[in-house]
Amino acid sequence: MMKQTDPAPITACTISRDVQNFDLLIEDMEAALGEAWGDLGFSEALAFIGQPEAASLEFVAIAIDESDEADLALLGEIIALAQQADIKSILIAEDVSPAALHQLLRKGADEFVPYPLPEGELQAAIDRLKRPAATITAPATSAPLAQTTDGDGVILAVQGLAGGTGATTLAVNLAWELANVEKAKPPQVCLLDFSLQFGSVSTFLDLPRRDVVFEMWSDTDILDEDVFRQALVTFEDKMRVLTAPTDIPPLDMINSEDVTRVLELARSHFDYVIVDMPTTLVQWTEAVLSMCQIYFTTLELDMRSAQNALRVKRALQSEGLPVEKLRYCLNRAPKFTDINGKSRVKRMAESLEIGIELQLPDGGRAVSQSCDHGLPLASSAAKNPLRREIAKLAQSLHALGKDDAEAA
Ligand SMILES: Nc1ncnc2c1ncn2[C@@H]1O[C@H](COP(=O)(O)OP(=O)(O)OP(=O)(O)O)[C@@H](O)[C@H]1O
Ligand SMILES: [Mg+2]
Repeated sequence: MMKQTDPAPITACTISRDVQNFDLLIEDMEAALGEAWGDLGFSEALAFIGQPEAASLEFVAIAIDESDEADLALLGEIIALAQQADIKSILIAEDVSPAALHQLLRKGADEFVPYPLPEGELQAAIDRLKRPAATITAPATSAPLAQTTDGDGVILAVQGLAGGTGATTLAVNLAWELANVEKAKPPQVCLLDFSLQFGSVSTFLDLPRRDVVFEMWSDTDILDEDVFRQALVTFEDKMRVLTAPTDIPPLDMINSEDVTRVLELARSHFDYVIVDMPTTLVQWTEAVLSMCQIYFTTLELDMRSAQNALRVKRALQSEGLPVEKLRYCLNRAPKFTDINGKSRVKRMAESLEIGIELQLPDGGRAVSQSCDHGLPLASSAAKNPLRREIAKLAQSLHALGKDDAEAA
């Protein structure tokens, strides 16, 4: 039943068991297309898509929830048929298992958006469909991954104890400084954005997000060197980066096993693996904590950071996790000359019973400008005090690793 009565051509269709279950989708379709769309049931869609009347369709939005998982085969057929007819498909899914999603994406669905639809996400997906293919998927790099001699690179994780405390800034710039730490024999560096939903590494380095990243996370059983290599993008020939997926994945899409597999693969091919963690503690935080050598946490000199630091420390201790791997980094730390600020840092450390080993200075607007321009500080503001401090950190970490290697 096409609801369209207007002679204007229909450019899109929703396909679902009952579109009334997806009222946000109806709203967003209306906002994006006005009246130029129709609605079909599953079997209607199968019959319609092959017909000449379907030629005006640019895309179909297939909305499903968990009860549709029984009809996966049928859904797969619809997607495949659309693909044959050169019609793009957007999958809109509520509470659908990652395995089912993965299967449908493999059948050729072009975009995935979770339901309830986040503000503006349907429009964003439609816009992406309209972009020429070349800008959606970056050309795959064919360069093989470097093989380190011993296959056990150093894993360094970074997590913010509160949002916006500079975790990503530290992760990105530390990775870049490590990649440049030694001219003669630069270490192989891989930066992993594990902040899957809102990861901003790709923005900070102005890198494209690859569609394969979502696929990689949704099925790590098939993860091998090849899949991993395709998911990575290269930054200035010197560093490999796993960005967050293009589409926001459900929080429970990945578990400790997935994370462990990715880290193992990364560590076997790179000297340094830097992980940008989400701000929240997740089910797989423990996996990263147990595999990494150092777990940096960023905080600022305020109540919010202090309270979170205390809570994180207690949570990890109560689980018997290795809190000794934590390194607290005070970002936007008071200047050397700020006596009052210095004593506040001291009191904070004492009251939390933590050592604040690292203090990162405020680098001013140059830092956020550098992020916005998609460049590491070394390239855009080499003399920035924050950059200097992170470069020093990279040098001392690298020297430490060398000492260990020589001692061994
Ligand atoms: N030391 C600093 N000096 C100046 N600006 C900074 C500094 N550290 C971070 N910033 C700026 O603060 C903003 C937030 O930093 P960033 O995104 O790295 O934090 P985050 O902890 O990763 O945040 P989120 O919780 O969103 O992941 C960015 O615009 C960054 O450029
Ligand atoms: Mg971040």
